[in-house]
Amino acid sequence: MKIVKKISEINQIVSDLKKKEKEINLVPTMGNIHEGHLSLLSEAEKFKGVNIVSIFVNPAQFNDVDDFNNYPNTFIEDVEILSKKKCDIIFAPNKNEIFLEDIKTKKTVFEYRNILCDLFRLGHFDGVTTIVKILLDLIRPSNVFFGEKDFQQLKIIEQLINQNNSKTFLIKCPSIRDSNGMSLSSRYSVFSQDQRIKFEQYAKIINSNLLILKKNFNKKAIDNIENELRNFGISKIDYIEVRNEKDLSLSKIHERSRLFIALYLDEIRVIDNFVLY
Ligand code: PAF
Repeated sequence: MKIVKKISEINQIVSDLKKKEKEINLVPTMGNIHEGHLSLLSEAEKFKGVNIVSIFVNPAQFNDVDDFNNYPNTFIEDVEILSKKKCDIIFAPNKNEIFLEDIKTKKTVFEYRNILCDLFRLGHFDGVTTIVKILLDLIRPSNVFFGEKDFQQLKIIEQLINQNNSKTFLIKCPSIRDSNGMSLSSRYSVFSQDQRIKFEQYAKIINSNLLILKKNFNKKAIDNIENELRNFGISKIDYIEVRNEKDLSLSKIHERSRLFIALYLDEIRVIDNFVLY
């Protein structure tokens, strides 16, 4: 496994691979590699070609400087984990390298905006699409792998790829969940013991109401989740909404819909979504 930090080096590697007509599979990450990322890499293994995992904690997608500063940086552990998997190259540029030409964060995707996380994390998705576009342009992968955990991100990236007429296929991968039914996230690696216990309780509240919602759309069950979470001590809930998974419009049926949740456990943002059919 090779670790590449320089853009000039990745350019050379990609151009050599292209000359040899090798396919490239890209798994973009911000590091703190967990089973969720590894499931994306396992999916990549099903395709032929060279597997590249990018690790870059992208400052442009953090709307809160503390959130950026607290984001877990575990590069040495990540290299150790990935070296045991079928990762051929880690592309881990530093900030100056990536923003070398002073590329400004731009709003380029206008679909799926002004709802869900876009309302609460101003500029976040512009930061995401800016870095993903840079990675896609540099690495020119045949396939790029994204998880359904960040469902709105997935839809926005799909739109980004479509509007750029890119030859890259977007491979959508289901969330990998903990035994409590919640999707894995790098943010949870900093939970204290107390926060872990609270998180288990929140998961129970969500899961018990999910069972009701899965049978039928039921506004009461959605209100129940919010009330029970608030009674349990959660003070900041960004949204609890049921939306159609095709166009992310609000939905009143359980078919083709997902429950979307974003809330805070102390200062840690928890987001997840659950299929209701
Ligand atoms: O989902 C993530 O980890 C990030 O948003 C991504 C896609 C790697 C862009 O920085």
